[in-house]
Amino acid sequence: MKRIVKIILAAVVAICLIAVAGVYALLEMRLSRTYDVAAADFTVKTTLSAEEAERRARTLMCGGCHHDAGNVLIDEPGVGRIVAPNLTRFVPMYSDAELVRLIRHGIKKDGTGVFIMPASNFANITDDDMAAIIAWLRSLKQLPDAVVGTTQWGPLGRIGLALDKIPFEADLVPAVIAPAATRPADIGEYAFRTDCSHCHNLDTAKQSEAFLAPALKPLAQSYSAADFKTLLRTGKGVGGRDLGVMTQVSQWDFSHFTEADIEQIQIYLAHRP
Ligand code: HEC
Ligand code: HEC
Repeated sequence: MKRIVKIILAAVVAICLIAVAGVYALLEMRLSRTYDVAAADFTVKTTLSAEEAERRARTLMCGGCHHDAGNVLIDEPGVGRIVAPNLTRFVPMYSDAELVRLIRHGIKKDGTGVFIMPASNFANITDDDMAAIIAWLRSLKQLPDAVVGTTQWGPLGRIGLALDKIPFEADLVPAVIAPAATRPADIGEYAFRTDCSHCHNLDTAKQSEAFLAPALKPLAQSYSAADFKTLLRTGKGVGGRDLGVMTQVSQWDFSHFTEADIEQIQIYLAHRP
């Protein structure tokens, strides 16, 4: 009897080890997968002043995640520590065409995919805004890294990756994208598609890796124009409430919208059928 128990135990242990090895092999395959999208030529041509190029670039959220010289986005024991790296160090390694492919398709210089960085939103960035982003990125002085280390996945994160529960942005971007040449005069829908919809839906709450974001349409309808401006400018909700990640993205990114931009965004969100 004892012998049989030992054999069964040994078999169970062996199966577990094979399963773990399988997960790691799947993970390595996923992590090293490259995407076959060519970095198409892109000419950075902008008639905007340096200040206006930077302002527009900053409305597109690079700063909220990367901060000035790198930022830890998620640090969950077991899941992992996800770092948005120091842009001032990475950008010089990229050509303009490779930057466009990274931003619009979520594909790094070496052909592998990025996590979390919202290429599926950025695929909608217009050519003139892309030129503004690149002009701004190229103007940044190199800074020492603000955080130590790179992205590290823990066991739960690895299982999520191996089982396709944590998406690569490159898989979410349509194969063919057709961004417009110029930023529309009314940026309401554009701002929703490039920024807000990374975290929010219009009519339903949206759960992402680390937080639950409420439906935007009823909020845009209930907020007064003045409170909506205060929210995007300062990150404070009605009554001065701190709103966590919403406060952070507002302070870093949305505070760079003009007053007219913010009015257009609220009108679009509140009235879209
Ligand atoms: C929601 C957060 C988020 C936003 C917004 C974001 N990034 Fe990232 N970015 C990341 C993360 C996380 C990584 C590291 C991803 C990885 O290693 O897979 C990254 C990586 C990068 C890299 C380095 C790629 C490499 O070779 O390792 C560059 C350059 C970059 N981002 C530029 C930008 C620019 C420019 C913008 C704005 C247009 C932007 N990012 C917006 C999260 C973000
Ligand atoms: C990085 C994710 C993220 C992005 C991008 C984002 N939001 Fe949010 N937002 C949140 C989360 C999370 C909450 C809920 C915060 C809470 O209740 O603690 C929230 C809350 C809100 C609220 C409700 C505030 C309140 O009074 O409770 C409004 C309005 C809002 N967001 C508007 C926007 C608009 C407009 C955009 C685009 C310009 C946007 N958000 C982009 C994550 C995001």
